[in-house]
Amino acid sequence: MTSRLPAVGTSIFTRMTALANSVNALNLAQGFPGFEPDPVLAERLAYHASHGKNQYSPAAGVPELRHQLALKYGYHADTEITVTCGASEALFSAIASVVSPGDEVIIIEPAYDLYLPAVQLQGGIPVFVRMKYPDFTIDWQEVQDRITARTRLILLNSPHNPTGKVLTAADISALEQIVLQHPGLFVVSDEVYEHILFDGHQHLSLSQSPVLRERTFICNSFAKTYHITGWKTGYCLAPENLTRELRKIHQYITFCTFTPAQYALADYLESTNSHQVLSEFYSRKRDLFLSTLDTAVFRPLPSEGTFFQNLSYAHLCQRPDTEVSVVLTEKAGVASIPTSVFYSDATDHHILRFCFAKDDETLLAAAQRLNQASRFLG
Ligand SMILES: Cc1ncc(COP(=O)(O)O)c(C=O)c1O
Repeated sequence: MTSRLPAVGTSIFTRMTALANSVNALNLAQGFPGFEPDPVLAERLAYHASHGKNQYSPAAGVPELRHQLALKYGYHADTEITVTCGASEALFSAIASVVSPGDEVIIIEPAYDLYLPAVQLQGGIPVFVRMKYPDFTIDWQEVQDRITARTRLILLNSPHNPTGKVLTAADISALEQIVLQHPGLFVVSDEVYEHILFDGHQHLSLSQSPVLRERTFICNSFAKTYHITGWKTGYCLAPENLTRELRKIHQYITFCTFTPAQYALADYLESTNSHQVLSEFYSRKRDLFLSTLDTAVFRPLPSEGTFFQNLSYAHLCQRPDTEVSVVLTEKAGVASIPTSVFYSDATDHHILRFCFAKDDETLLAAAQRLNQASRFLG
């Protein structure tokens, strides 16, 4: 049988986690939190699972949750908000809503691994624009230059996985100019790390720009905000005409996501603002990891948001990052993700991505092990 995705194998996240488990290494590879959600939220889930909220929800999501999201984001609960099976499904459905075979889609690289296959499955043609190394800024002139009559969509992610970069006001206004010049162009904005920002950086949601809001699918998730990646509950915010198309696809991909979680999250959003402490929580973890790390051995790149810290070893050796990440896992006992996997052509800047959403003990032990690890890189 001919594969629709011939280049896709088992993801690096699965492989590195399996390797970390097999050699008993500290797993700073896959991006999931190493701690439990708030017991209040867990209690609400248990409550709704034992009080009759176990059947299909409305396809758009339970009204209580959409109401809470409407209050938080200023979108209309009935016509502009759709609860999805994680941000993954929101992204997939949004891409499928606008991309037809032969349409070009601008993907900013390095890029989260879902974007490319989701575009390809619609018959879309990826057009890659790279963030400028070493600052990972977006060259908007280049984006503009790559737009043709067939360009249908731009995919953006801020705070950005894997670089930790955050879009600035200048980025937003450059994007506005582009969108204004191209009436048939849409935007998918992946904002799953919206509440994890450091050193005074602010999250500028595309939903805050009247120009962009009209053309943008905001894809988001509760996964990273509430330490519940396994609940797979996310949402898409989009104006009514885009939401109408998205829901056509959503209803046949999943119809709805896990009902008790939707009710639990509705209660939780109503009763707390726990997301407000997230930046401080993760900023402390990032600083703990970095303060223990010998930065002469692995050189940290700036992390403005997300729970990822990139470390460069380019000054130590030029071995491929895919090889170095395996060596560090097996010999030093710390698993990471080689950032070349986030590029379509495997561009290798000799940078590894470490997830610091782990308990303090794990972060301290990982940094100490990395401090001794240069001997494995010769
Ligand atoms: C940038 C980005 N987008 C989307 C997702 C997927 O989110 P969810 O687990 O809610 O599907 C992730 C998860 O790692 C991510 O890092």
